Amino acid sequence: MRSKNAPNVKYLPKDKFTEAIIFAGADAFAHAQHWIESEGRKAGDDIPPVYLGKKQLVELETLNIVDGGRQCARVIRAGEIGEAYLTLIARKLAIAGVKEARLFNGMYEPKPAEDWSPRLPGYREEAERGESIVINLPVTKREPKADPADELKPRVESRNDGLYWITPKVDKDSGEIINNETWLCSPLEVVGSGSDGAERYLVLRWRSPRGHEDITRAIPCADIGERDGWRSLKAGGVNVTTKSTFRAILADWLQQSGADQEWIITHTTGWHHGAYIMPDGEVIGDPATPILFNGRSAASSGYAIAGTATTWRDSVARLAGGNPSMMLGVAAALSAPLIGLVGADGFGVHLFEQSSAGKTTTANIASSLWGEPDALRLTWYGTALGIANEAEAHNDSLLPLDEVGQGSSAKDVATSAYTLFNGAGKLQGAKEGGNRELKRWRTVAISTGEMDIETFLAAGGLKVKAGQLVRLLNIPMEKSTVFNGLPNGKAHADALKEAWIDNHGAAGREWVKWLAANQQEAKQAVRDAQTRWRGLIPADYGEQVHRVAERFAILEAALVTGASITGWGEQASRDAIQHSFNAWVKEFGTGNKEHQQIIEQCEAFLNAYGLSRFAPLPYDPSSMPIRDLAGYRKRKSSHDDAPLVFYTFPATFEKEIAQGFNARQFARVLAAAGLLSEPSSGRGYQQKSPRIDGRQINVYVLHQVAEEGEE
Ligand SMILES: Nc1ncnc2c1ncn2[C@@H]1O[C@H](COP(=O)(O)OP(=O)(O)OP(=O)(O)O)[C@@H](O)[C@H]1O
Ligand SMILES: [Mg+2]
Repeated sequence: MRSKNAPNVKYLPKDKFTEAIIFAGADAFAHAQHWIESEGRKAGDDIPPVYLGKKQLVELETLNIVDGGRQCARVIRAGEIGEAYLTLIARKLAIAGVKEARLFNGMYEPKPAEDWSPRLPGYREEAERGESIVINLPVTKREPKADPADELKPRVESRNDGLYWITPKVDKDSGEIINNETWLCSPLEVVGSGSDGAERYLVLRWRSPRGHEDITRAIPCADIGERDGWRSLKAGGVNVTTKSTFRAILADWLQQSGADQEWIITHTTGWHHGAYIMPDGEVIGDPATPILFNGRSAASSGYAIAGTATTWRDSVARLAGGNPSMMLGVAAALSAPLIGLVGADGFGVHLFEQSSAGKTTTANIASSLWGEPDALRLTWYGTALGIANEAEAHNDSLLPLDEVGQGSSAKDVATSAYTLFNGAGKLQGAKEGGNRELKRWRTVAISTGEMDIETFLAAGGLKVKAGQLVRLLNIPMEKSTVFNGLPNGKAHADALKEAWIDNHGAAGREWVKWLAANQQEAKQAVRDAQTRWRGLIPADYGEQVHRVAERFAILEAALVTGASITGWGEQASRDAIQHSFNAWVKEFGTGNKEHQQIIEQCEAFLNAYGLSRFAPLPYDPSSMPIRDLAGYRKRKSSHDDAPLVFYTFPATFEKEIAQGFNARQFARVLAAAGLLSEPSSGRGYQQKSPRIDGRQINVYVLHQVAEEGEE
């Protein structure tokens, strides 16, 4: 029989005599959450209780509600629940071997409402005698019932080894019914249908080919019976008959199924209706309608759990504490699910430094909140589609990216960064015409490299737009100096590695649970941090510095509110973020990066070609011709070292000097800096040149930068 664990069964304590706490009823999730925060915390108990909410009750028959060998259990009524469910819970406990079970009418009830213990042996015997434990639940699945009148009807039957098409016939001579059976496909269950807002889907479940887990997947209704639909099933491990007549029968049956349960289908992870979807499809929280994530990340198997949130805090976080870069990494990991709640944009943190500074160690510490660090890392993609799919599969979550420069070209990094931080993919043409919904995402990326992104791209002949640098924060990695009990940096790095191998995945989930239950508090923390940071940044700093400060505010809010996850003090957390911000400002400058870039680019051109590609005035037609003439030059006055004026051809200005920028914007910035003369009248920035060979032409008038102290 296929069965899976109810939420938190896997966290039940190893000691089988410890009582399992099970919340059951419509509000089970909320009550369980409350228990963790109040009763559990008071008692020093950090084991999350099992909960059986609406979603779990629907599939109660197939769920394990305690682990094998558990001796006692306390069932706590949490909101509405029918008697039939309670009986089924009692029977399931009995079958699992529980010896003592009691029902409480609420978590604060001092005495049990019912003691089930005396009933348990009876239930157990019944089950051992093979008597059915199937009880008619208020929500029943449509089972193909063998109604005698239907005995002669052709039908699809679901068996242990697959779906069969049964065509009964009465034997003429004996009068016996002979069932002709044809195999249609390997075992497959229709668990409902749903919509992603645009299309209808059928939700199917089957056992993975290795038999370890159930795979639940949504197939577009439009694909049922079509090549694409069969292909998705087969790719997922369902064997399907190759005979077209029987495929048609299977397709018809599928189309008639799935009316019982409505699902929400989504292509992005993260927050949906108060629940949070992990990149591997795990749903944290209890949405009113079941949600299915129908995308996949290449790294989904990395979202594994080892140890608990507490063991992570006492090992990884304890070791990393006091080291600003490492704390920043953790802040990025905590920010990922927070940005979605507060509606902030995604961003990335790029840590750069020479080899062996601990960059990979830091990125792995951040990843270890969510899973197994090495398995979670993705590459800088060379295709926008590759990164767009991963971005959708990492919405509201941390996206750890490969080391920049190792196997990734400048172009890959530029493509990925642009797609990632642009927030949405291009409109995609859908098969049946029309446009598919825009892909959207919001992720927090963490990457590392020996160079900052700008230098790396420049080395590859590409230029970063200043807007991108605001989204991808270049922060010099700071070597760890606080070794928390270890003798040196190497031992510290090695201890961290050992720590995350045994402790990963639980802390991030714990953080999401906290966020789900404390959304208002989290939002308020971000607002407060942003107000504080706004007050901190001097008003005359560039607009982009102010925008980046908003991101640091989020990082700070995440770290401060995540104190119970990290165990780090409030001041230490603030200091780490402030420290990282200072390091960022030192790299970026306090001005407006875009303006700086424009001025530098113009100066660089004039320095390189000012003399070689601009012909001196007055023009002498008999002089040597100049290749790639860019314009004309003249001294401002007769003085020998008076600054030069460059009458630049529009084509050279727009295509070469302003390359990579909007020429108008480029000219505006130069004019504001006094490097370009603004015409006294008219629009645009072009002017008439002095008479050259009797003619006046349109030019941009650029001025040589005065050397320091000359003016
Ligand atoms: N603070 C430190 N002091 C001394 N050695 C360190 C420190 N941090 C890391 N190391 C050493 O560097 C090794 C590599 O660490 P890590 O992979 O994190 O560095 P990295 O910056 O990613 O280097 P690379 O650029 O080579 O990938 C560690 O195993 C450790 O030996
Ligand atoms: Mg490295």
